[in-house]
Amino acid sequence: MFDVPGAQRKLLSVVGARPQFIKAAMLSRTLAREAPGLTHLHLHTGQHYSPDMAQVFFDELNYRPDFDLGVGSGTHARQTGDAMIGIEKVLMDEKPDLVIVYGDTNSTLAGALAAVKLHIPVAHVEAGLRSGNRRMPEEINRIVTDAVSEILFCPTPTSVNNLKKEGRKDGVIHTGDILLDTLHYFLPRAHETSDVLDRLALNDQPFWLLTMHRPSNVDDESKLGMIIKAFIREDRPRIIFPCHPRTAKTLDKLSSHDLDNIDVIPPVSYLDMLVLEEHASLILTDSGGVQREAYFLSRPCLTLREETEWPETLEEGWNHIVGTDPKAILEGIAQLTLPDQPPDLEAFGNGKAVERMQQEILKALGL
Ligand code: UD1
Ligand code: UDP
Repeated sequence: MFDVPGAQRKLLSVVGARPQFIKAAMLSRTLAREAPGLTHLHLHTGQHYSPDMAQVFFDELNYRPDFDLGVGSGTHARQTGDAMIGIEKVLMDEKPDLVIVYGDTNSTLAGALAAVKLHIPVAHVEAGLRSGNRRMPEEINRIVTDAVSEILFCPTPTSVNNLKKEGRKDGVIHTGDILLDTLHYFLPRAHETSDVLDRLALNDQPFWLLTMHRPSNVDDESKLGMIIKAFIREDRPRIIFPCHPRTAKTLDKLSSHDLDNIDVIPPVSYLDMLVLEEHASLILTDSGGVQREAYFLSRPCLTLREETEWPETLEEGWNHIVGTDPKAILEGIAQLTLPDQPPDLEAFGNGKAVERMQQEILKALGL
């Protein structure tokens, strides 16, 4: 990609949302070690800004974005547009050789579009994922970001195939899933430092872990109330529900009686989340990241959506798609058995994703 071997190079990562801080922190850590002469800047759009959605990750993961655009919340066009304007200015000032974007948020899209219009090549971490559901904002962000990215870091065989089916040939690299590398790296630290089980008095009792933040599940009060009712039964263990601020807004409208025996708590830090996931006897989620972490940690998971971008997690029976119909959720719970087969971590790159990304990045930069 670059014709002056050995010259000083500059990378710029664009992040904005909780899962992106975790992934960029991991990539940055390895690149800094392997290529000390390489400058790697981090731009935070400000899409996530509440202390428990942003600063807690910066502190815990020792991750310091160099720029914070402070775009905050808004409609899709407002949030993406403001992020693009701010990113463009930083790109014009800093002139990076390569921009890295992560996942499928509005910040991902803004970063990719701003960079490609300035003729700066883009590497997309978590490329090729598809739900087939164009009503998901993330699906549009994925399709457009992949279309304009030059380097496509695919986490799974399915994501590679999705790009092949769309006719992409160049730049498609099967790296594995950066979230598995991250989990391997941070789990020992979580064991050492997290006191979340003590804080929530969970040491001696089984519990389920619930997360939900998809607009189609949580924006409508009656839909959210209906899903939650499926979990509320006297014979249930405690359900711990670290609640995304989007979901909290709707939950506030439900009567507290509707939440009987669900412990709604603020979002937790990444290290606390890993410990909760590891100890939960069942995980219920509509999150892409939490589905995979459940799989990596061999925890049974019910996915509260109609489809998944991560079909590899379904293979051995660790993850099941149950949708959001309470009857289907109750059936899923009743039919749950622990699979005989361990999760196939090879399909997710066995913790070598960052190493592969780094090789490709350094190659692309001529280093
Ligand atoms: C975004 C991503 C989603 C990703 C999720 C990770 C898009 C379109 N969606 O969804 O793909 O899975 O992040 O968590 O980019 N809010 C706060 N404080 C914050 C952030 C948000 O209070 O720090 C509230 C605001 O009311 C806001 C709402 O949450 O309107 C939604 O936030 P937004 O960033 O638009 O989308 P997410 O649902 O977080
Ligand atoms: N996560 C966290 N605290 C929480 C909920 C999630 O640290 O209270 C972590 C989780 O472990 C995973 C990531 O955030 O690594 C997933 O983010 P999220 O569910 O917000 O988004 P998605 O993965 O669906 O895009």
